[in-house]
Amino acid sequence: MTKPNLLSGMQPSASSLHLGNYLGALTQWVAMQKDYNAYYVIVDLHAITVPQDPKELRENTRRTAAQYLAAGLDPEQSALFVQSHVPAHAQLAWVLNCITGFGEASRMTQFKDKSQKGGADNSSVGLFTYPILQAADILLYQPKSVPVGEDQRQHLELTRDLAMRFNSRFGDTFTIPQAQILKETAKIYDLQVPTAKMSKSAADPKGLINLMDEPAVITKKIKSAVTDTDGEIRFDQANKPGVSNLLGIYSAITGKSVAEIEASLSGQGYGSLKSEVAEAVIATLDPIRVRALELLEDKGELDSLLAKGAKKANEQAEATLALVYDRLGFVRP
Ligand code: TYM
Repeated sequence: MTKPNLLSGMQPSASSLHLGNYLGALTQWVAMQKDYNAYYVIVDLHAITVPQDPKELRENTRRTAAQYLAAGLDPEQSALFVQSHVPAHAQLAWVLNCITGFGEASRMTQFKDKSQKGGADNSSVGLFTYPILQAADILLYQPKSVPVGEDQRQHLELTRDLAMRFNSRFGDTFTIPQAQILKETAKIYDLQVPTAKMSKSAADPKGLINLMDEPAVITKKIKSAVTDTDGEIRFDQANKPGVSNLLGIYSAITGKSVAEIEASLSGQGYGSLKSEVAEAVIATLDPIRVRALELLEDKGELDSLLAKGAKKANEQAEATLALVYDRLGFVRP
């Protein structure tokens, strides 16, 4: 039986992925790769919707690839590739731009948030059409499933709407993809502002655990995580967001249930909780950091893995694009 397709991706916009990327997406990717014909993309075209230093972008693209591999993605099994190596992404994005309403695009909350921060004149048109490029990324690969964190839900809804619209106007072309969002890890929160999602644009770097952080740095960040004053280790998202976030991270990392953790730490202080969380996070992340650094020592090997992934991705993407162009009525060369 042929396996269903899967696609997901991340932006290479920082020198390290963070714990939210890892628990919200990357661990799901690793778990799903055996059962799907999976495509994992590094979305450099998306990264340039906000200013990027070219040297850093090049470095961060390879660092992202190294972290994908170090976390357990298997390049023999799945296609790992860079978005700009597959021209069909930009080509399909143009087609989808032409069936997206201006009002529809204006309702995307991520654009509203990001553009409010920088002001309209500092926001690029690329940032505005970002979700449409994301829809193209997805639809080219005809995936059944798209494993992501909660913050991508609205973009996945737009993707589904555009796929259905195209199919109903031009005939069945795209598979309608399903977002795969795991309840427990859909949103990992900032350690300093535990009501906000963990994000690379955090105001305070202490709020963010990076996959490439040294163990001592991770311990320091977790030890200084914001908690509360009632002193009880109990999951209560509304009233105890800091403690609940630590419990959620601990549970996701170890596979123990929150109830089990609450019981084992009952009567102890936040210091003990933090020590245990730090130890568990380091035990998982440190081998990834070490492996990623090793992989980065051989850029030639890394680039050739990405070239191999791009070859497979291009085959699938070009087939979908050819079908789309045909359906649209373009005369083919
Ligand atoms: P990006 O690069 O911001 O994030 C990559 C993945 O990590 C998840 N994530 C989180 N999950 C839980 N808690 C958090 N605090 C957290 N922060 C991030 C994201 O939900 C995502 O799954 N637009 C996408 C990139 C993209 C894409 C795609 C994704 C472009 N094309 C096609 C899927 C399919 C983004 O900015 O992800």
